[in-house]
Amino acid sequence: MGSNTFVTVKTANGIEYQQPTGLFINNEFVPSISGKKFAVENPSNEDHIVDVYEAEEADVDVAVDAAEKVFDSWANEQPKKRGLLLSRLADKIEEHADVLAAIESTDNGKTLNMAKGDVGLVVDVFRFYAGWADKIYGDVIETDPDHFSYTRREPLGVVGQIIPWNFPLLLASWKLGPALATGNTVVLKSAESTPLSALYLANLVKEVGFPPGVVNIISGFGKTGAYIASHMRIKKVAFTGSTATGRFVMKAAATSNLKKVTLELGGKSPHIIFEDADLETAVEAVRVGIFFNSGEVCCAGSRIYVHESVYDDVVKLFKAKAEQSAPGDPFEKTSWYGPQTSRIQLDRILQYIEEGKKEGAKLLTGGKRIDRKGYYIEPTIFTDVNENMKIVKEEIFGPVVTLTKFKTVDEVLQMAHDTQYGLAAGIHTQNLSKALHVANSLHAGTVWINTFNDFHAQVPFGGYNQSGTGKEMGKEGLDAYTQVKAVRIGGITKH
Ligand code: NAI
Ligand code: MG
Repeated sequence: MGSNTFVTVKTANGIEYQQPTGLFINNEFVPSISGKKFAVENPSNEDHIVDVYEAEEADVDVAVDAAEKVFDSWANEQPKKRGLLLSRLADKIEEHADVLAAIESTDNGKTLNMAKGDVGLVVDVFRFYAGWADKIYGDVIETDPDHFSYTRREPLGVVGQIIPWNFPLLLASWKLGPALATGNTVVLKSAESTPLSALYLANLVKEVGFPPGVVNIISGFGKTGAYIASHMRIKKVAFTGSTATGRFVMKAAATSNLKKVTLELGGKSPHIIFEDADLETAVEAVRVGIFFNSGEVCCAGSRIYVHESVYDDVVKLFKAKAEQSAPGDPFEKTSWYGPQTSRIQLDRILQYIEEGKKEGAKLLTGGKRIDRKGYYIEPTIFTDVNENMKIVKEEIFGPVVTLTKFKTVDEVLQMAHDTQYGLAAGIHTQNLSKALHVANSLHAGTVWINTFNDFHAQVPFGGYNQSGTGKEMGKEGLDAYTQVKAVRIGGITKH
């Protein structure tokens, strides 16, 4: 069963592989119940790659059945066994790194270099959580001589996970790693524009020997995500995506079975250059902060604030760097970034650029779609903006950034905080006490000092305010996947 759902695909760098297209349920790739499929597109040339099966409500139910059935045995499995499987999965991903990176570049459009970086972090994340599997402890609580009290950290059950298209494989690892280490079983839905790498990962999950039903990976649209969020037998939902959809997910959880919710949502992260910064380093970080991954990054440093005394220098340096950061084919070494992931995103971004011009912002460089097949947008910088403009307020999710001058620390903090979001922030200064004061003051879940977009499996990530709730990666990433049971034994008397 299942082998008929594989299709041979050849990537632009000549890797030929078997792409699973079925729904991964109970360790088998199966057609959807309706038999419906949808098309997967390569955004670098608008070519059709393959069709994959589309999960709808009935398919989610089958996946939940599978995950529910195996839950008790998986939850009671020796922790070291769960750790071993995660560790083997990390090894397997490392072995398949080249094909996984090529799949990601083909489906999402990110450059091969960036895709390889993602795969490296995916390996780290699975290894990190493999190490945690046998270190999940409760406490012994001393209350009085007549009682013995302790806590256990238990898994929740079947968890639903919904991921977006900007880091398809990486975000699957952020979700699966902690859920599996702690003994939950999973139904994960990939994003409709990038389902391929998660299906390839599913094949590796099976190969290393995870029991059937522990990991289920399905492809499908938003309505299938909505069904997961409102499912009565799913005990927790972890979502990454837009703030608007995050609101739906939380509401669906509230009106169904009050499942636990973690959300990693949008951002409009400030990136601040002080007068005493090393300007070369700062401007390079600013470039990485906004053009990395075509600007399709939730924590992108999309609002740049520069101290007035170095503003003109930064404008000059950054403009030159932006103009040397041209996008191109993801498999070409000279491409600084690739296309946007879909036509919808391309159109959204171009719309924001038009709004910016209409609102009177000055286009320092870029601003246009590149005249070729595929969804490429020039590196785009706006100056002469004010805090009320749409391009300063709203998440653009593309290679578009605004530059603003400031005079004092208080002024820049006030501008930094003038947002509904609070995902990340960046600071550049050589002054340690200023760096710490500003880092402590910023309303953001992550603060980068003299670096940006700098992720590590050991370091937790997750937003303040409307950028979300809960953390991923780090030891904090485990919290959302366990619940604490308190046990209290009475009647301990003297014998
Ligand atoms: P989205 O948030 O709608 O999609 C993300 C995921 O949620 C996909 O898997 C989608 O199928 C699923 N989904 C859609 N509607 C759902 C619902 N009602 N219930 C449950 N799941 C649902 O984001 P979209 O439309 O792809 O992108 C729109 C904007 O969202 C982007 O321009 C960007 O600003 C932001 N975004 C932020 C991301 C982040 O990393 N924080 C990632 C992707 C998008
Ligand atoms: Mg695609």
